[in-house]
Amino acid sequence: MLLRRPALLFLLTLAQFVLGLEDYYKVLGLNKQASDREIKSAYRQLSKKFHPDKNPNDETAKDKFVEVSEAYEALIDPESRKVYDQYGHEGLKQRQQGGGGQHHDPFDLFSRFFGGGGHFGNQPGQRRGPNIEVKVGIALRDFYNGRTTEFQWDKQQICEECEGTGAADGHVDTCRSCNGHGVKLVRHQLAPGMFQQVQMQCDQCGGRGKTIKHKCPVCAGQRVVRKPTTVSLTVQPGMADNVKIVYDNEADASPDYVAGDLIVTLVEKEPDLENDNPEHVDGVFFRRKGDDLFWREILSLREAWMGDWTRNITHLDGHVVRLLRKRGEVVQPGHVETVPGEGMPKWHEDGDSVYHKTEFGNLYVEYVVVLPDQMESGMEKDFWAVFQKWRGKKAVDLHKDSGRPDKILEHDGHAHEEL
Ligand SMILES: *[C@@H]1O[C@H](CO)[C@@H](O)[C@H](O)[C@H]1NC(C)=O
Ligand SMILES: [Zn+2]
Ligand SMILES: [Zn+2]
Repeated sequence: MLLRRPALLFLLTLAQFVLGLEDYYKVLGLNKQASDREIKSAYRQLSKKFHPDKNPNDETAKDKFVEVSEAYEALIDPESRKVYDQYGHEGLKQRQQGGGGQHHDPFDLFSRFFGGGGHFGNQPGQRRGPNIEVKVGIALRDFYNGRTTEFQWDKQQICEECEGTGAADGHVDTCRSCNGHGVKLVRHQLAPGMFQQVQMQCDQCGGRGKTIKHKCPVCAGQRVVRKPTTVSLTVQPGMADNVKIVYDNEADASPDYVAGDLIVTLVEKEPDLENDNPEHVDGVFFRRKGDDLFWREILSLREAWMGDWTRNITHLDGHVVRLLRKRGEVVQPGHVETVPGEGMPKWHEDGDSVYHKTEFGNLYVEYVVVLPDQMESGMEKDFWAVFQKWRGKKAVDLHKDSGRPDKILEHDGHAHEEL
């Protein structure tokens, strides 16, 4: 009887927790195999989304904010994660009561990520760090198809070892030299009996007002470390060249200020012909202008003049655009053909950056005609005979005579088959 009571109690509390607390993985929108990076990234997004600064007077958001921090703390520490995976919420609770693991104020946790005092820095008087601009090169192919990718940059982060105190033992003293003010008044003698008082930054503490006896070995007392940080990036189909994507509060973090924004500019990379366009290594590739694409196609004299040819252009997603002329269809050098709907996807930045996959710009194909360097002798004779008939005729008249449809030059529509 005596032995059974605690067991019963334990079951009751367990039941309460099962009912009351959402699964931590679910809270972060992750599965059980999630990596540390995914956990951090989920926390980064969700904590900003539900932060009370962004959701004033919204109790649900506040609860969510707390829940997200708890879930993050439980899962980012390998030991606590192991306990949680095995014993769930109750296991963690017992671990905490036993003195294992720390429990941070959710705002503390937030400020360890983004700096400042756990807030967004929108309030007057709160210092904000500088915004940082980064350029990321994106292949035209990825602008066309869309792509989720990653990039790295050296970001200043609050030192995890000392949690931004700069001290190995967490012990920070008030600077004796300036009494914690960070500044000192210095009297300069200008002339006998004449003094000027100048306020100078305290040289003992570097203006921080605090000194550290045992410096943190990781950040050498700097409280911050710069290290490569991976940022995930979604390129939506048809996004404009030079589009800017803003990551709120993701710039350099510091205990002294709230992180500014990381502003990422997507810049179209020069095409790497070998890798981006394996079919077209001879210097031919798509060029983009807004929603339209441009392509240059080479025709031989025979093709330009006599017609009867096809071209299969492999588009940026691999589908084929077919160009062709029937026998007798002339293409003038420099002619530009419009292929509707084969340009870039049109990207609309309305609200949630929805794009409509059905709308595309145009593809403009410019024809370049290459004449043969020399003629075979029989060929030369035949051509000579034809051109003798045309001696003295102007190009414009010949154009009319040929009666071939052509989209560049106007023609009168009268076809004379006298060639
Ligand atoms: C283009 O593709 C069509 C159909 O697959 C084929 O009949 C034609 O010969 C191809 N043309 C060229 C130049 O490869
Ligand atoms: Zn440190
Ligand atoms: Zn000082």
